[in-house]
Amino acid sequence: MAMRLKSSFRWLGLALLVICVLPTVVFYTWGPPFNGGTTGTTQQGSLRAGQNAGLLGHFGSWKRTQELGSQGTRNFATCEPRTDIAFIKTHKTGGTTVMQILHRFGYLHNSSFLIPHHNINDLYPYGLLYPQLYLRPIQHGHGILTYHTVYNRPAIVKHLSENSTFFTILREPLSHLKSTFSYYRLSRLMDDYESAEMEAMIKFLEDPGRYDTKFNTQNPGRPISFTRNPMALELGFPVQKLRNITGNPSSEDIKDFLETISGELDLVMILEYFEESLVLLRRLMCWDLQDILYLKYNSYEYGNVTVPPVLMDRHKQWDTVDYALYDHFNKTLWGKIQKEGNDFREELHHFRDIEHKVRTHCFSPKDQLPTTVERSPWNAQFLIDSEFCTWLKASHMCYWTLLRDRSLKFHMSTDERKTSPLKQKPRSFLVKLSKKLRVSSGIHAPPFCVLCGEVQRYCSDHEYVSHLYQEGHISSSLSSSNRLELQGWHGGNPLPPA
Ligand SMILES: *[C@@H]1O[C@H](CO)[C@@H](O)[C@H](O)[C@H]1NC(C)=O
Ligand SMILES: *[C@@H]1O[C@H](CO)[C@@H](O)[C@H](O)[C@H]1NC(C)=O
Ligand SMILES: *[C@@H]1O[C@H](CO)[C@@H](O)[C@H](O)[C@H]1NC(C)=O
Ligand SMILES: *[C@@H]1O[C@H](CO)[C@@H](O)[C@H](O)[C@H]1NC(C)=O
Ligand SMILES: *[C@@H]1O[C@H](CO)[C@@H](O)[C@H](O)[C@H]1NC(C)=O
Repeated sequence: MAMRLKSSFRWLGLALLVICVLPTVVFYTWGPPFNGGTTGTTQQGSLRAGQNAGLLGHFGSWKRTQELGSQGTRNFATCEPRTDIAFIKTHKTGGTTVMQILHRFGYLHNSSFLIPHHNINDLYPYGLLYPQLYLRPIQHGHGILTYHTVYNRPAIVKHLSENSTFFTILREPLSHLKSTFSYYRLSRLMDDYESAEMEAMIKFLEDPGRYDTKFNTQNPGRPISFTRNPMALELGFPVQKLRNITGNPSSEDIKDFLETISGELDLVMILEYFEESLVLLRRLMCWDLQDILYLKYNSYEYGNVTVPPVLMDRHKQWDTVDYALYDHFNKTLWGKIQKEGNDFREELHHFRDIEHKVRTHCFSPKDQLPTTVERSPWNAQFLIDSEFCTWLKASHMCYWTLLRDRSLKFHMSTDERKTSPLKQKPRSFLVKLSKKLRVSSGIHAPPFCVLCGEVQRYCSDHEYVSHLYQEGHISSSLSSSNRLELQGWHGGNPLPPA
């Protein structure tokens, strides 16, 4: 009797497993289309967040919808888009906005990112030297580096192709100092002085050497130098040459440094000329104009302050390598623009028009009908719709999480395949996961995600569902008329049109 009871429990258990788990597995493995009205109930059940939602309109609209004919400029029509990228992200220079462009480009192209595993700042300053800090590639090698790290070319080309496009971005040094004071609230560290940040900065400039030593806390995620040549240090200027508080490196040292990185970097963008820099980047990369559309991230207001000339001179003295760096690359930038010829201005105007159009559209009330951007010498025709705006707005924390999740899922399935060659990917690992779970508990659970908690924390449901579409877990059939409202936390504050 006891035996019989036990065995019927076993049958019951098995039946439950079949009812609850199998649909998920089947659904994942073969990815049946999610056809609006004809969607099966089980699938709808496991897609909790997507209930009642014509979540997503026309996916794939980000892709070029039309190739260019003879009208195309030399760049866009004839070259091969570049996909191997080493972006040296410097602090307080607009780097997060550039990172967003690379996140989006690489995410939509399934690129392999050299990506820190546990903390987005783990590659900084010298994390590239510690393999346990980053994830293994999902292709033959890594394609894109965009996270903070101190420029170290040999360490980078160990992971990325030597032929990668290397670039960075700089900011006018006094403006950089203002931004640093304001963002890190350095006034708090000037313990004999409590005031608004800009006033504290003036005080600082009266005696930089005295205050700077108080700033150099070794907190992870903080720049290795707040005020003294921070950009040069992040581009690899030797730390030991800046140890002398009263003296500056020799002009020989500075010249050597500038020569070296001029030879190694394909482009140095300048925040003060951000759009010009982006147009140069597009041409260099042979990308489409839609690839460089952006929203400002991590942009903050701070008070207006007039720095007296004598303090400006003191700053130039204190921050001398950064001033030399900036002047040099500002000249280089304008030299490059000169060489681009007349259609550079035209492209810039066109870019600004499209940006305005895109921002207006993406910040309008929902249920806007998609807008078409006609083709030009610099872009194929494309559609601005809900998905386009989603990937334009997604926060860097969300991208970082989705990219890691994608990578971890990839490795789980390939590791499984290696250890048990008879089993097929991705089924076996999914079955295992599902067994652990016993029942499907919605999309924030395996097999849909690995870092499910983080996905929930950093991405809105709308972004995540869009991601599941990108990954081929669900299809794009649901109508665009009834989108899931954008919600959830958007780190980094994308800015609406001015
Ligand atoms: C990226 O990967 C997804 C899922 O495997 C696939 O559906 C999509 O076509 C890929 N996209 C590109 C641009 O290769
Ligand atoms: C780098 O580019 C050169 C010239 O295009 C090519 O010959 C070489 O094979 C490339 N190297 C790698 C590692 O891709
Ligand atoms: C630091 O720089 C000052 C001014 O150039 C110089 O007089 C001094 O010798 C330097 N100190 C060291 C240790 O190099
Ligand atoms: C900052 O102050 C200067 C000089 O007083 C003024 O010309 C400028 O318009 C101000 N900028 C802003 C953003 O208020
Ligand atoms: C950058 O260079 C241009 C062209 O030489 C010059 O007009 C401009 O003043 C420079 N910008 C800054 C912020 O120094």
